[in-house]
Amino acid sequence: MTALFPETGGFLPHHHFWTEDGLVLERERVFGRCWLYMGVFDETGEPAELTADMAGLRFTIRRDAAGLSGVCRDGDRVRPLEVNRCGALVFARVAQKGGPTLAEHLHPYAERLAAMSVNCVNPEPPVGIPFQANWKALVENTMDDFHGSTVHPETIHPAVHPDWQTHLTTERFGANSDSCWRLADGTAGWWAKLDGKLRLAKFAEEAVYRHIFIFPNFYLASFYGSVVIPHRVDPVAPDAAVLRWQLFLPTTRLETPRERAFHRSTAVYLLTSATGVINEDRPVCEAVQQGRPAILGNGVYGRRERRILDFHTAMLAQLAKSPVTEPRP
Ligand SMILES: [Fe+2]
Repeated sequence: MTALFPETGGFLPHHHFWTEDGLVLERERVFGRCWLYMGVFDETGEPAELTADMAGLRFTIRRDAAGLSGVCRDGDRVRPLEVNRCGALVFARVAQKGGPTLAEHLHPYAERLAAMSVNCVNPEPPVGIPFQANWKALVENTMDDFHGSTVHPETIHPAVHPDWQTHLTTERFGANSDSCWRLADGTAGWWAKLDGKLRLAKFAEEAVYRHIFIFPNFYLASFYGSVVIPHRVDPVAPDAAVLRWQLFLPTTRLETPRERAFHRSTAVYLLTSATGVINEDRPVCEAVQQGRPAILGNGVYGRRERRILDFHTAMLAQLAKSPVTEPRP
């Protein structure tokens, strides 16, 4: 096995982006240990169970009269899960002694996430988009504040305020962060009209695109204090991942056929737009993946890219911990 922690400062070793050794370590020490986002149950009891596959681990969460429970399967090995919620968002981790509580893991965003999760209603079907790239390339991509203007010049870029250097604020806390882009006036006007017609449910009055990242692979995006889109990046292989997301377009009224039809067409428009944006990210992540083994050194990161370094630092700290061996009795 290649040396795990060569002299790279705060950077993960580069081979972690393409080797099986890297993925095996992450399976035990990151995905076999951290709190992970599992999904949302709706009020009618759907879906019957939540399942997730990450780095070769299969997570299954059930809901019954006794509450939430689940297991993690890894070949023949079956380990119990601790399951907890933040508002409507269900998280789980392999049962273990010690370690942070869910609230500690989400700190300082647990309350904000819980408030946003109230809008996880009117669910659209979950979407999974495969990427031929390491999962961490997708995480780095999504946290790169510069990529709005470069990768999405005709989609995200015109939707946010043209002076985004001034009107983008990013809070960072360890590896967790919250970035908030002020919407362009035209885009905010579009959402206001939509609000007038659909009577959107809102967790806050804010004309922003918000993006809260929770280590290691979850982010909750929101528009206009209303639409929420939980995303999770699932590792599949050293060079393959799936970006899973689900759109919620919450309304306070959905009674008449006309309201339902307008809600449906708006949801389809938003799903199509979001898919289009992700299809702009995909070739970039895949090109980075292909080029990465030829890397000669580490890049120089600016103020707007500090979250990427925070992520590397958190990954190094997490990988230095021993794997979980003793389930809680
Ligand atoms: Fe993007």
